[in-house]
Amino acid sequence: MKVGIIGSGGREHAICSILFNSNKIDKIYCFPGNAGTSEIAENVEIDLENFQNIKKFILKNKIDFIIVGPEKPLVDGIVDFLEKNEIKVFGPNKLASQLEGSKIFTKKLCEKYNIPTAKFGIFINIESAKKFTENSNFPIVVKADNLASGKGVYICKDKKEAFIAIEEIFNGKFGKANNILIEEFLHGEEMSYFTIHDGKNFKNFGTAQDHKRVLEGDLGKNTGGMGAYSPSRLINEKLEKKIINNIIKPTIKGLSDLGINYKGFLYTGLMIVNNEPYLIEFNVRMGDPECQTILPRLKSDLIDILVSCCDEKLNKINIDWSDQKSLCIVLCAKGYPDVFQKNVEIKNLEQINLKKNEFLFHAGTLKRDKKIFSIGGRVLNFIAISENFYDAKVKITKNLEKLNWPGGFYRKDIGYKVID
Ligand code: AMP
Ligand code: GLY
Repeated sequence: MKVGIIGSGGREHAICSILFNSNKIDKIYCFPGNAGTSEIAENVEIDLENFQNIKKFILKNKIDFIIVGPEKPLVDGIVDFLEKNEIKVFGPNKLASQLEGSKIFTKKLCEKYNIPTAKFGIFINIESAKKFTENSNFPIVVKADNLASGKGVYICKDKKEAFIAIEEIFNGKFGKANNILIEEFLHGEEMSYFTIHDGKNFKNFGTAQDHKRVLEGDLGKNTGGMGAYSPSRLINEKLEKKIINNIIKPTIKGLSDLGINYKGFLYTGLMIVNNEPYLIEFNVRMGDPECQTILPRLKSDLIDILVSCCDEKLNKINIDWSDQKSLCIVLCAKGYPDVFQKNVEIKNLEQINLKKNEFLFHAGTLKRDKKIFSIGGRVLNFIAISENFYDAKVKITKNLEKLNWPGGFYRKDIGYKVID
């Protein structure tokens, strides 16, 4: 079987590596991939907004199955487009992807189906939004409606910060804004809950806890994710039942009432407040770096799972997981998430001899003249699975120290909530 993966991050290299080990896969193409995927797959330099060219390449090379990693092409409707051209593809369609593409769409769904989430208001201009903050209890959360790569969320500690957020969003920092979302701030602990859906059934696809802030102690700016561990320390049977019954099932029902069938991964971002789950956001894909953290624990063949979803046969297969703990630390380019240098060579990679249960997934890397260069903010993902989180972290740290890349930095406290 020939498989194509759309995307170029750590998530896509993780998917690529896991599929590479399946004896059902003959060849993998990555659109466009990174230096890591280029070792095990064919990287295809292609504009991800040009669906026609992607289709042409898929048909010409007789690729049997496409997996879409990131949200942008999903929200842009790549699944609808490829399906129309009779190409088998894993991921939600354009309408279903509104769950991530429009925070207001999701909030309205929550309202209609009684899904627990932070109280909110939707405002259509600067004046009404500002007026609302006059009587608010701070902190409050101001959010752009549309995709903003995790940057369109402002936690505001006072009116001044809220005004800046409102102005930036309405002035088009994240694209044209017709409206804005203002939410109550939830105090609790975050957790990511993943499910995989075939349009009829869904199954758990792991839990994780991400570290979104750039600095140790969960301080500083939000990033795409500096590291994660899986499973989340918060998950238990009772909580899982609440997540499924109070959040996931009503969401799927809400979509179905709109004539929308959900197929693909669903990432439910939660705030757990006194053992009660509140929805913070949905993402219509796996998380990054949660995917890199979760996949090494998967014992079943990933391709069987993904194909069974497309065929609406998820109930016919088992998804088996290892009981081991998994930890991931992201090595970033110095300066990230603000301005950072690109095209810095990463030497010493060949010094790292990964042992069993250790993984290294590339993100913003490029191979040129047999050398590896950084080209993104998040550069490499170091993962280990082990009997306990502490041991996993020791293994990762050894590899990071061996690499000793002067262009990079990483958070040394990843997993601090589960490691003494
Ligand atoms: P989002 O992109 O909606 O997931 O928001 C990014 C991050 O902002 C989340 O991971 C939370 O850490 C934080 N956040 C968003 N909404 C809230 C909220 N209502 N209360 C507290 N924190 C929030
Ligand atoms: N790690 C957060 C995300 O993938 O959105």
